[in-house]
Amino acid sequence: MAAKIIDGKAFAADVRGKVTEHVARLKEEHGITPGLAVVLVGEDPASQVYVRSKGKQTVEVGMNSFEHKLDIDTSEADLLALIDQLNADPTVHGILVQLPLPGHLNSDLVINSIDPAKDVDGFHISNVGLLGTGQKSMVPCTPLGCLMMLREHHGSLSGLNAVVVGRSNIVGKPMANLLLKDSCTVTIAHSRTKDLPEVVRGADIVVGAVGRPEMIVGDWIKPGATVIDVGINRIDAPERGTNEDGSVKTRLVGDCHFASCAEVAGAITPVPGGVGPMTIACLLANTVTACCRANDLDEPQGLTA
Ligand code: GUN
Repeated sequence: MAAKIIDGKAFAADVRGKVTEHVARLKEEHGITPGLAVVLVGEDPASQVYVRSKGKQTVEVGMNSFEHKLDIDTSEADLLALIDQLNADPTVHGILVQLPLPGHLNSDLVINSIDPAKDVDGFHISNVGLLGTGQKSMVPCTPLGCLMMLREHHGSLSGLNAVVVGRSNIVGKPMANLLLKDSCTVTIAHSRTKDLPEVVRGADIVVGAVGRPEMIVGDWIKPGATVIDVGINRIDAPERGTNEDGSVKTRLVGDCHFASCAEVAGAITPVPGGVGPMTIACLLANTVTACCRANDLDEPQGLTA
């Protein structure tokens, strides 16, 4: 039996549709336009691509986008002053500081200077603590996107065995907390886990978030399990030939070996086109949520954890 392919691109379009409707209602009924401020320090090419894409999608759903591009040698004091200004600005409901920051800036200090209510990344220590204690918080975008897809596929997650492979602060840990909140039995496994294949074989839900290309293979997957692949790894693809400069062509793969996992799983997210597109969609969802909370209005249905 071949697995159902969970179409993250279509799902993300659906989330953006819901965000668009909610934004229109906020404007019509309350005269409020949600605003997202994105701060980029330096000129890292990958970060520039992400920031451009975030700005474009923010405008497409009808929200205000405020982009702040700072020099690579911006001082910590200047960056903190900008964040203070955005914290105080009532037209800004969400603030995202693009990571990684240049080495001379203390990321923890910078992230924790964002007003937690505007922390649409969910990285502020207050939001981490709120999520860890099962309280209302801002939730990191990638795990939120995974949760939405899992809820859509399973309905209730209650009582299911979930194994999260990877223990990062951005994905693994918040993912585990979200699954626990939805009453899964949760295991956080990682590169040092003893007999990782056997641990994964017990899972009804597998979330791959270790950053190792195609590490999780079909032989590890319980028949019918749901596989959510968060990995985005670029690997050499000599079968595709060479580029004009003679370098070998590459392709994107996840942390799960797609073909073998898809033979055994009940459902699986592809790479690309699975979790990836959901991340920015959830950033937009978080901005609407933050805007509603800031104005004591009902939160959008189906867009929160
Ligand atoms: N850089 C890569 N992914 C992310 C993200 O989700 N949030 C932020 N702030 N920076 C990133």
